[in-house]
Amino acid sequence: MMDDSSTSLAGKTALVTGAARRLGRVIALALAQQGANVVVHYNRSAEDAASLCEEIRGLGVSAWSVPGDLSDAGQTESLFDRATQDAGPIDILINSASTFEKETLWEASAQSLEANLRLHATAPLILARTLARQNRGGSIVNMLDTRVTVYDRQHAAYHISKRVLLTLTRMLALELAPGIAVNAVAPGLILPPAGEDESYLQKLAHCNPLNRYGDPAQVTDAVLFLLRSRFITGQVIYVDGGYHMKGHMYD
Ligand SMILES: NC(=O)c1ccc[n+]([C@@H]2O[C@H](COP(=O)([O-])OP(=O)(O)OC[C@H]3O[C@@H](n4cnc5c(N)ncnc54)[C@H](OP(=O)(O)O)[C@@H]3O)[C@@H](O)[C@H]2O)c1
Repeated sequence: MMDDSSTSLAGKTALVTGAARRLGRVIALALAQQGANVVVHYNRSAEDAASLCEEIRGLGVSAWSVPGDLSDAGQTESLFDRATQDAGPIDILINSASTFEKETLWEASAQSLEANLRLHATAPLILARTLARQNRGGSIVNMLDTRVTVYDRQHAAYHISKRVLLTLTRMLALELAPGIAVNAVAPGLILPPAGEDESYLQKLAHCNPLNRYGDPAQVTDAVLFLLRSRFITGQVIYVDGGYHMKGHMYD
């Protein structure tokens, strides 16, 4: 069946996890600029979430903030209920909440491995299944990391759990079809991690073929492209200057 080539986001309702700050915030604002109403999920950043909601409402759409620790399965389940009580059915889910702890495979505790898996894999799975149970279609974008293509020895628990999210993206794309498209965006050097400044990005820019670092708007462009598409599912867009090809060249 031929279909319209793209979907408008105006009037849709999006749930963005980890939306109070950094990339999640930029994605939430980009959705609002396209006319989507936004549920701003946060864990600790209540004030940032409240001020983001104000900013979103200033764009003429609705916004609600909902808290929850997504390393706790019970709180993940209730997040979706809270979101729909406030906002009605959810059309778009962006799984962006994350932690980025420095720990090698030797250092990572069982607790850290479990918490990372719950946050980066179990929570996106629970939220995706709950979205699907609304029986009204929709679109999901999981935020991965270009490091899923290599072995990030310094962030072992993060690495393992994002690899699981990559697999889940493909599994969900098959399981939730045809009603729901499930894709991923894998950023590379975009924002410096907590405690680092722009010099961190400058220092590492040589690691990707395009020899530069990216901008949050380039990430949101990829997210919006996937959300608008009606014929793409199970796809990963790497917004990483080509870093994901590292290791595929002889010199
Ligand atoms: N920044 C980059 O350049 C980059 C590069 C590669 C991949 N990514 C991916 O892109 C996404 C967004 O990146 P980011 O740098 O904006 O992420 P981030 O700053 O590391 O985390 C985003 C938010 O996740 C929330 N969060 C942390 N632990 C949580 C928990 N247990 N339960 C619920 N929420 C929790 C926090 O919310 P509160 O502040 O409310 O506590 C935090 O503000 C992530 O999935 C990341 O892996 C980013």
